[in-house]
Amino acid sequence: MRHAGRIAAEARSVAGELVKPGAVTSQIDKRVREFIISRGGIPAFLNYRGYPATLCISVNDEVIHGIPSERKLEDGDIVSIDVGVIKDGYVGDCAATFVAGRADPESLRLIEVTRTCFYEGMKFAKVGYRISDISRAIQTHAEANGYSVVREFVGHGIGAAIHEPPEVPNFVERPRRKADPRLVPGMTLAVEPMVNAGDYGVSVLDDGWTVVTADGSPSAHYENTILITDGEPEILTICEVS
Ligand code: MF3
Ligand code: CO
Repeated sequence: MRHAGRIAAEARSVAGELVKPGAVTSQIDKRVREFIISRGGIPAFLNYRGYPATLCISVNDEVIHGIPSERKLEDGDIVSIDVGVIKDGYVGDCAATFVAGRADPESLRLIEVTRTCFYEGMKFAKVGYRISDISRAIQTHAEANGYSVVREFVGHGIGAAIHEPPEVPNFVERPRRKADPRLVPGMTLAVEPMVNAGDYGVSVLDDGWTVVTADGSPSAHYENTILITDGEPEILTICEVS
């Protein structure tokens, strides 16, 4: 999983470098697919439940699962890139939001808060806590900054398959409706705050994949695959350039 994670993190960086005004999202997808294959990996999303691409590229009010297309990025677009890689039967999954060209300060704040949400979650990604402690830390930080966390899509366990139990929500439900496992060493999780500048509601476009904010507000995403240890969590989707 460390190897899969490293390639996924490298692919995320490669994709981020390609985010510029005028870039065509399907071209970014192609370049990153070639990169993953050159590193001995397999794109994990391609053909997963019929998904047609290597990356999810979600722009502005698109939250997740945006399909690469002939769309040209414009100056100031915020671009969430999600990538999964299979290496030797194990999966790494990570995401980040990048800006094409000149960012406005509000976009940068949304992106930075979303990234910080992940690290707030990491404070509880330790033995002695439960999944919901990670969820609560993420939600609290997003809402303290005036944003909302998406509820219809959640993080997940990951290993030999991209999506394994348990779910890792970015919010806490009261009363609790689902199992809330304790964290134990060896668990591998994809922790992925999806943060909307406006309301948390989302809808899915007619393409059956693209998730957009219901109110049209911009959204950001940040994800790493992590390992629960006896001490601090280990981030598996990490590499020299990330
Ligand atoms: N990274 C996404 C997730 O965490 C996976 C995208 S699934 C695909 O769930 F179907 F779009 F490939
Ligand atoms: Co994921």
